[in-house]
Amino acid sequence: MKITISIIKADVGSVGGHEIPSKRLIETIENHVKKEGKRLLLDYKIFHTGDDTGILMSHIHGVNYSDIHKLAFDAFVAGTEVAKEQGLYGAGQDILKNAFSGNVRGMGPGSCEMEFEERPAEPFVLFACDKTDPGAFNYPLFRGFADPFHNAGLLLASDMAKGFEFTVMDVNYTKGDRVITLKVPEEYYDLAVLLRDPEHFVIESISSRATGDIASVVSTSRLHNIAGKYTGKDDPVAIVRTQKQFPSTGELLSPYATAHFVAGGDRGSHIVALMPCKLGAIISFFDGPAIVTAAGMCVHNGIFTEAIDLFDQPFWDTIRDKASEKTYGIREQGFFGAAMAPMEELEYTGVVERIKQLDSKFSIRRSDK
Ligand code: F6R
Ligand code: MG
Ligand code: MG
Repeated sequence: MKITISIIKADVGSVGGHEIPSKRLIETIENHVKKEGKRLLLDYKIFHTGDDTGILMSHIHGVNYSDIHKLAFDAFVAGTEVAKEQGLYGAGQDILKNAFSGNVRGMGPGSCEMEFEERPAEPFVLFACDKTDPGAFNYPLFRGFADPFHNAGLLLASDMAKGFEFTVMDVNYTKGDRVITLKVPEEYYDLAVLLRDPEHFVIESISSRATGDIASVVSTSRLHNIAGKYTGKDDPVAIVRTQKQFPSTGELLSPYATAHFVAGGDRGSHIVALMPCKLGAIISFFDGPAIVTAAGMCVHNGIFTEAIDLFDQPFWDTIRDKASEKTYGIREQGFFGAAMAPMEELEYTGVVERIKQLDSKFSIRRSDK
């Protein structure tokens, strides 16, 4: 059966700062999807990671189907009403436009979708991050798909021997979606030089070169540029199909053991280690650290199984400790050098404005004195 899986997510309000959506907000979003999505959806699930709520949907309408996007958009609008009633922080933050115009892209919510013919067994993982941006997935997806140190299947299994094709977006280009497609292993180094700069070049999708099957999609967009100013980090989600012609679930989780440094954390403006957390995790230290959750599921005839919590396993306790130590390590140097995000990634204008004011006070010392 050919199905589409869509995940559309947004931060429309949270309790105690930008920590976690309220129960009522989540219920409101769920009730809306349940009622209005009856004829449209095969199945759905509601997730939340940090202050972001995600609506995972299966259907037969393909990607960019307007009614699916409207369903999610209206659910977030309904959630916004509750957020306002409850006085939640950031109520309606990711609803940048009021009038729905056919697709949530550019309207605030993040989204990614994939259409595929279901395999007899169809395992996949829904990754969701908070307090960081889509470039956070560059490192784990690059290593999970292209590096035999993590994806041993590249060496051991014949299904993946031809490698993968990566589509990467230049998110700094604002006039349209500027993308490039690169094949690994042949163009491995070309891909590496782009992905090393995760605030500029961001993985959008990955597909199998052996079968052409879509393997992964990320909610990569030019959002923070389209909006003209930051309204919060465009906290990303990704769907990754696993096993057989794709890396195994464990191979895809493996790179998260690095707890790699990402831009995010407090005021979306710092460098912190990405901490793999349990589903439903909240935000705490230094408005962070940046977190990632992983929900493992199977889908059959468009019906989802229950989700298992892939980071809820003793191995990841050690990695959480490591992530805390790495984050605390860099936090100790405050705002100096590498500890604060690059100028163009700062969510606030304070630094830039202050430098502008100081500009006129600079003088050029005469060299003959
Ligand atoms: C992401 C997130 C942060 C905030 C940023 C600014 O979910 O919440 O990136 O957008 O910390 O938040 P304010 O200015 O609302 O304190
Ligand atoms: Mg937020
Ligand atoms: Mg968020």
